[in-house]
Amino acid sequence: MADAPLVLGIETSCDETGIGIVTGHTLLANTIASSMEEHARFGGVVPEVASRAHLEAMTPTVEAALAQAGLRFSDIDAIAVTAGPGLAGALLVGVAAAKAYALGLGIPLYGVNHLAAHVAVDQLEHGPLPKPCIALLVSGGHSSLLLVPDVAKDVISLGSTVDDAAGEAFDKVARVLGLPFPGGPYIDKAATSGSGTAVAFPRGKMDDGTLDFSFSGLKTAVARWVEARESAGERIHVPDVAASFQEAVVDVLTRKALQACRKYGVGDLLIGGGVAANSRLRALAQERCDAAGVRLRVPRPGLCTDNGAMVAALGSDLVAAGVTPSSLEIPADSSMPITTVHV
Ligand code: KG4
Ligand code: ZN
Repeated sequence: MADAPLVLGIETSCDETGIGIVTGHTLLANTIASSMEEHARFGGVVPEVASRAHLEAMTPTVEAALAQAGLRFSDIDAIAVTAGPGLAGALLVGVAAAKAYALGLGIPLYGVNHLAAHVAVDQLEHGPLPKPCIALLVSGGHSSLLLVPDVAKDVISLGSTVDDAAGEAFDKVARVLGLPFPGGPYIDKAATSGSGTAVAFPRGKMDDGTLDFSFSGLKTAVARWVEARESAGERIHVPDVAASFQEAVVDVLTRKALQACRKYGVGDLLIGGGVAANSRLRALAQERCDAAGVRLRVPRPGLCTDNGAMVAALGSDLVAAGVTPSSLEIPADSSMPITTVHV
């Protein structure tokens, strides 16, 4: 794959300005500037702050990626960019920059779907995706089960959350427990010294026969449980609550993912998105996949959370599949459906 085109990927859908450079499925550079610290005190990402931060970080982050790969602009063969879904203003900065680079360098542009990119990134670590595979995509904005016949061409939605995304539930419960934003990694850490069976929190939609999820009832149950103890003057043991909440989330996620594998007769499961960095999710998924004879693929945590390498990885697949490049007129589409792999 040494002479596969060099693809530079740009990710700006939320608070991370991510730039990746790949050739084929080989990762050459992955640089990130995050505005998370600027949002933390608000307890959530502030869109205007994120957009301005992308604008400031774009050029230095691209230059850092080129330096990391030992390349110059003139070496790049194609630009890929997250065109959606995500925060409209944040996406716009990436899409505008990508168009400018493509036009200025005279190279093709590929507008890609952020969620499909979360699936494609695993190939940088574990090689080509089995066709088909089932993908469980769990992030701050999305929780979906997908049937993926070919990530460059065809992604089919099997189910998704009917309310909160899994990562959103982690972030909201962390807040209830007085942990910092974004809560996922803090709950993960706190849970290591707690018991997942300390409190029997509800598992939404667990056995409803669908491949959809619901986390809003669980989030409310945790908040009520904590409130009730605190108003009775009791002290809560944060690690136990964190571990029990986390267990409820990963129990449902892994159970439904394996139901999807069984239902569609697929022997390969991929987990992607920020929540895939969760240590308990990774462990339980491995345990249940082993028991079911399903092969599990999960990218390393740094490739699970938002980054530019995932966009470059999907761009590289599109180039290899001979997909027609995007027009320089493509919009940023904040609500792009998962079935639209590229625009
Ligand atoms: O994919 P991502 O970086 O951004 C979106 O596209 O949303 O996902 C961010 C989400 C946040 O909700 C964050 O709390 C969660 O992923 N997250 C985790 C962990 N690391 C990040 N959730 C649980 N455990 C983790 N270790
Ligand atoms: Zn994401």
